[in-house]
Amino acid sequence: MKTTILGTGSFLPEKVLTNADLEKIVDTSDEWIRTRTGISERRVADENTPSSELAVRAAQNALDMAGLKPEDIDIIIVGTVTPDYSFPSTACLIQNKLGARKIMSYDFSAGCTGFIYGLKQADAFIKAGMAKYVLVIAVEELTKITNWTDRGTCVLFGDGSGAAVVGPSKDDEHGILATYTAADGSLGDLLILKAGGSAMPASHETVDKNLHTLYMAGNDVFKHAVRQMEESALKGFELSGISMEQLDWLVPHQANIRIIDFLARRLKLSMEQVVVTIHKYGNTSASSIPIALDEAVRDGRIEKDSNVLMVAFGAGFTWGSVTMRWGI
Ligand code: ACO
Repeated sequence: MKTTILGTGSFLPEKVLTNADLEKIVDTSDEWIRTRTGISERRVADENTPSSELAVRAAQNALDMAGLKPEDIDIIIVGTVTPDYSFPSTACLIQNKLGARKIMSYDFSAGCTGFIYGLKQADAFIKAGMAKYVLVIAVEELTKITNWTDRGTCVLFGDGSGAAVVGPSKDDEHGILATYTAADGSLGDLLILKAGGSAMPASHETVDKNLHTLYMAGNDVFKHAVRQMEESALKGFELSGISMEQLDWLVPHQANIRIIDFLARRLKLSMEQVVVTIHKYGNTSASSIPIALDEAVRDGRIEKDSNVLMVAFGAGFTWGSVTMRWGI
């Protein structure tokens, strides 16, 4: 039995923050940001719009495409590092806002690999007979944990949400062909939000030192991202039986256009076969893959029988891939 994605959805806040806007906040330039990262603009959620609001919109769009109602869903899982609260989980807030049944709903933290980890969990739940339809949501409002005085990170991130309804595939030819996930906790300090948890509870000092915002050793993260995303892609080919030549679409995590370019070259793909959204949305962490996927499905690039490879790398470190033959 195979599982598949029956519907995708995404939602981006309206407000646009351009590179020119950032030039007024930190010592940077549109030219530097575009050439070093590929980003021209990103979306920003306003103060009164928490992650759950973006997520509900993305989820509703995915349900509509799948032709399902909230009450059809058996499990809601949400990958996020920017939940509305530490608890209750954002998944529980979404369960209530969507009007779903009183089903198991939980968040998990896998950084930018959240959607890949989420698809793997959905695949496993369905194959184990524990659910028929699983709603996998990735949502991030990284601009709410951004250090706006750090030009090395504040130019990178944006807000948004993407979702997928996962369910049984109608046939054995289409659906999720392989999932691959991995982690290395020894490198966690390179990409971390230090304060606010049990290791460093909130205090005046943590606020004064800006420790409630994201810290990233960009250069080091870059090197690991390049290596592990390539490894994840190769594992995807190996486990799925799809060859590089048979691949139609690469949907990579959108962290830096240079990482995406490198990966495409290593996989001998032309950039026409890569779904890219980083120029307009920046790095939306776990949401970047489902947002890109949803765009490519809705505009017809990804269609029935397309071989699709999604590859991610993120905080933890975590990394992985999902290989699919598109079935809708
Ligand atoms: N504007 C102008 N100059 C800048 C800026 C900026 N916004 N940011 C850094 N610089 C300067 C630095 O100060 C440095 O100057 P110096 O040489 O005088 O010291 C110079 O530019 C080069 O800095 P680097 O950090 O070496 O720049 P790099 O080319 O590595 O680009 C970047 C930085 C974009 C953060 C890159 O390292 C990167 O993309 N890292 C990986 C991010 C990633 O993969 N994330 C994936 C998982 S994490 C997640 O997605 C949440």
